Amino acid sequence: MSIQDQLKPLIARADQQLDSALSAPSSASDQLLQAMRYSVFNGGKRFRPVLAYAACKAITGAIESADATAVAIELIHAYSLVHDDLPAMDDDDLRRGQPTCHIQFDEATAILAGDALQTSAFAALLNHHNLAHLPQLLEELTLASGARGMVAGQMIDLASVGKAIDVTALENMHRHKTGALICASVRMGAIAGGANDTQLKQLTVYAKALGLAFQVQDDILDIEGDTATLGKQTGADAALHKPTYPALLGLSEAKKRAHELVEVGLEALESFGPEAHLLRELARYVIQRNH
Ligand code: IPE
Ligand code: IPE
Ligand code: MG
Ligand code: MG
Ligand code: MG
Repeated sequence: MSIQDQLKPLIARADQQLDSALSAPSSASDQLLQAMRYSVFNGGKRFRPVLAYAACKAITGAIESADATAVAIELIHAYSLVHDDLPAMDDDDLRRGQPTCHIQFDEATAILAGDALQTSAFAALLNHHNLAHLPQLLEELTLASGARGMVAGQMIDLASVGKAIDVTALENMHRHKTGALICASVRMGAIAGGANDTQLKQLTVYAKALGLAFQVQDDILDIEGDTATLGKQTGADAALHKPTYPALLGLSEAKKRAHELVEVGLEALESFGPEAHLLRELARYVIQRNH
C-alpha cells in the first residue's frame, strides 16, 4: 500500500476531530470562526497529527488515544502559519493554494484568528481521555509552542534576515521554528499511548532528526518546487534574504544533509518492530515530498 493510502484514514480522522473542535463556540463572531476554519480546512497535509497517531501506534498498536494531541498540535501549527504569513512576518499571499488568511479576510482578523486557534489548541488537549497524562502533555505543548520552541525559532528567523549566520545558528533556528512542534507531535503521541522512558528517548532522537529534515526539505522546495504543487509562492525565501540550508550550503549539500538526518531517524527506531512501520515510512516521506 502506498504511503498516501496508509495516511488517508489517519488524515480523515484528524479532519473529523478538528471539525468538532472548531464547531461554533457561542460567543465567537461569525467572521472569527470563519477565519479560523478557513485556516485549518484548506488542504494542509496534516503531517503533525499523522505523526502523533503513528507514534501512538508504535507504542500501543492503535491510534485512538492520540486524538486530542493530534488536534492540539494541528491547531498550533495552523495558528503559526496564519501569523507567519502576515505582512510583518513573511508577507505571503498564498498558502495551500489559496489566499492567506489576512488576504481573504483582513490583517486584524488574521491576528485574532491565530490567537484564537492557539488557545483552542489547549482547550482541545483538555479532552484527552486519560487525566494522568495531561500535565505532561500540556508541558510538551507549551514548551514546543512558545518562547522555548516555535515562537523562539520564528524570532530568530526574523532577526536573521539578511545576516550571514553559520550552520550551527541555522540549525538552531530550524530546530526551534519547525523541529520543536514536530518533536512534540511524536512525543505527545507516544505519551498519550503510555510510552516508557526508553521508548520516549528513542522516539525523541527520531523526531528531532525528522523535524530538522522537514525544514531542510521546506527550504529545498522553496527553490525546486513549483508554486502550483506547493500551494505557496516559491522563491519567497531568497526574495526576503532568509537564511536557509540551500542558501548556506548549496542545494546538493542541503539534500545530502536531509538524507543523513532521515537515516539518523530510522536508526533510532531500530529496537521497534512492525508497529513502527508508519513512523519509518513518514521519515522517508519527509524528503520525498514535493509539497
Ligand atoms: C509548513 O508546514 C511550514 C513549516 C513549518 C515548514 P507544512 O509543510 O506541514 O504545511 P501544511 O500544513 O502541509 O500546509
Ligand atoms: C515557518 O517556516 C515555520 C512556522 C510557521 C513555525 P517558513 O516560513 O519557511 O514556512 P513556509 O515556507 O512559509 O510554509
Ligand atoms: Mg517564516
Ligand atoms: Mg513563511
Ligand atoms: Mg518555507
